[in-house]
Amino acid sequence: MKIENKIALVTGANRGIGKALVESLLQHGAEKVYAAARKLDSLPDFGDDRVVPVQLDINNSDEIVRVAAQITDVDLLLNNAGVAAFVSLVDGPTDLIARDMQTNYFGTLNVIRAFIPSLEKRPGSAIANIASIAAFVNFPMLGGYSASKAANFSMSQGLRIELAPRGISVHTINPGPIDTEMAKDLEMDKTTPAQAAANMLAGIEAGEADIFPDEGAQGMISVWKNDYRELEAMVAQMAEG
Ligand SMILES: NC(=O)c1ccc[n+]([C@@H]2O[C@H](COP(=O)([O-])OP(=O)(O)OC[C@H]3O[C@@H](n4cnc5c(N)ncnc54)[C@H](OP(=O)(O)O)[C@@H]3O)[C@@H](O)[C@H]2O)c1
Repeated sequence: MKIENKIALVTGANRGIGKALVESLLQHGAEKVYAAARKLDSLPDFGDDRVVPVQLDINNSDEIVRVAAQITDVDLLLNNAGVAAFVSLVDGPTDLIARDMQTNYFGTLNVIRAFIPSLEKRPGSAIANIASIAAFVNFPMLGGYSASKAANFSMSQGLRIELAPRGISVHTINPGPIDTEMAKDLEMDKTTPAQAAANMLAGIEAGEADIFPDEGAQGMISVWKNDYRELEAMVAQMAEG
């Protein structure tokens, strides 16, 4: 897909990677960008009248149905909104572990299901789901989050197969550490949101099914491709400090 003259919707567009995606879409010549956020007043002023603010909490089923009924011209649905609980699978609060799965998996799936009828009427339409490199290896301090992103990745694989005959392509985006609020406590080299967003859109334009938009993710996935247990061993070493 060429972004130029296309219409995109970005969830969680008020900050972090989502905000950078809106800015990058504008730079790529998008015709219109729906910037969705759960609170409209949290959206920055993008200074561009191609941006249309949309109120959307991806855990609110009524809101999802309402928004999908109103907005029927999206070519590219970018599912960016997500949460991360830095808690242990062994003894972390189960409500936080459930919240990660609810938002990153079920919430995202519900948005996709609501938009499929309009996406399939737009030739060459696409869905891009931001999973994580944590979909490929479980980081113990982010155990529930990693599981939710593995679920998000698996969902995308299934949707890719089911939606291909309906003319909708599906991309996964699997970042490593990106310098946002979510990753503020990670002591690792981080890519800027602007660079990550530009690489995500480059991957979509190149038709890559699975996109690794930063050096951290690219390094880890090459270890995984060689031997996924080797990546697990690396993460275990990191966890031991
Ligand atoms: N940063 C990283 O290192 C990294 C690495 C891999 C993957 N990712 C993924 O990249 C995506 C963006 O993360 P980020 O780093 O930009 O994190 P962030 O700065 O914490 O931003 C998260 C965004 O998601 C929104 N959001 C959370 N729950 C929502 C809901 N129920 N409905 C609608 N919006 C919701 C937030 O809105 P509010 O402002 O209202 O909370 C915010 O806009 C996430 O899916 C994350 O898992 C990030």
